[in-house]
Amino acid sequence: MLRSKIGGIGHYVPNNVVTNNDLSKVMETSDEWIRERTGIQERRYGKKHEETTSTMGARAAEIAIERAGIQKEDVDFIIFATLSPDYYFPGCGVLLQRELGITNTEIGALDIRNQCSGFIYGLSIADQFVRTGMYKNVLLVGAEMHSMGLDFSTRGRNVTVIFGDGAGAVVVQPTEKEGQGILTTKLHSDGTYAEKLAFINPGSHGGYHDKRLEREIDYGFSDAEYGEIFMNEHMVQNAQIYPNMEGQFVFKLAVQKFPEVIMEALATTGLEKGDIDMMVPHQANLRISAFVQKKLGLRDDQVWNNIQKYGNTTAASIPIALCEAYEAGAVKEGDLVCLAAFGSGFTWGSALIRW
Ligand code: COA
Repeated sequence: MLRSKIGGIGHYVPNNVVTNNDLSKVMETSDEWIRERTGIQERRYGKKHEETTSTMGARAAEIAIERAGIQKEDVDFIIFATLSPDYYFPGCGVLLQRELGITNTEIGALDIRNQCSGFIYGLSIADQFVRTGMYKNVLLVGAEMHSMGLDFSTRGRNVTVIFGDGAGAVVVQPTEKEGQGILTTKLHSDGTYAEKLAFINPGSHGGYHDKRLEREIDYGFSDAEYGEIFMNEHMVQNAQIYPNMEGQFVFKLAVQKFPEVIMEALATTGLEKGDIDMMVPHQANLRISAFVQKKLGLRDDQVWNNIQKYGNTTAASIPIALCEAYEAGAVKEGDLVCLAAFGSGFTWGSALIRW
């Protein structure tokens, strides 16, 4: 049976390092609070007006393409995962195509909006296309420029301190090598708690979901104006144009779903916890990773964590971490690599790869 593998991987993080102490100069927070609750010490911010989500994605993609042993013209499908796109539309897939100078119009470009689990969703899509023989070189990119859309006042501190910018990319290709490749991917969703971790304005909702959920939120428009207002001054002034999160709610579900979806993938493939050589979890919180590690009985050197340096880079976090692990020689041919993510939606997923 034809399987797909990660044929090349690359990542890019901007140079600008922003420490916890830097943030404590603009909002009421502290290095101690951030480290204790999240493990984060610093994060990177892209160069405003010079770098974007798609340009950072392109830098990571160039490395992945080279390592995959192909030319950019050989890419036959692009998948771009992000929650911080350059534009509301069109998506970053076509902007990446342009940034890379790919003029071939035979290819497709797909944008996916699954936030923290975007990379796993993208990997699953790439895997299906390659397995069926439809494509041979699928370029999958996860990138974020969070720093352009965060609330840097004390009001937004519970969210802002967590996120960082960066990009990761892989080229998914067919493999005929016995046992090698993506063994399985598992995808899940539950829209019940969509607003628990969300960025809802600007949007076309016009208050619809709040009525349905019987939530009283003043967006600064009347019933008569429903459906006419996308974003207004009230929303800007009242910080309704930023991401919001009920941290503890998210935390409790994350520690439940990460191990669950990993065990599900292991069960499908007939493998066990002890078979995992390297786990690369989405970098949401060091405490979440530590919990999952303990649950799976993995040693410290079997879990790749880099949230300390980069914060949570959402769709970019797994490919950045996986790339670092690969470059450090911590992921070698034949290793069983486990990826897992949980995030806004809620959506979550896992992947098992025989490298
Ligand atoms: N600096 C200082 N104090 C802060 C702060 C900050 N950056 N952010 C919040 N606080 C304060 C709150 O105002 C609150 O103060 P109060 O008790 O006086 O009201 C207190 O700290 C506790 O806030 P809370 O939100 O309950 O903290 P927490 O222990 O849940 O930690 C998170 C917050 C965000 C670190 C934690 O909930 C978390 O990591 N959740 C999961 C988030 C996640 O993974 N998101 C991505 C999904 S993929």
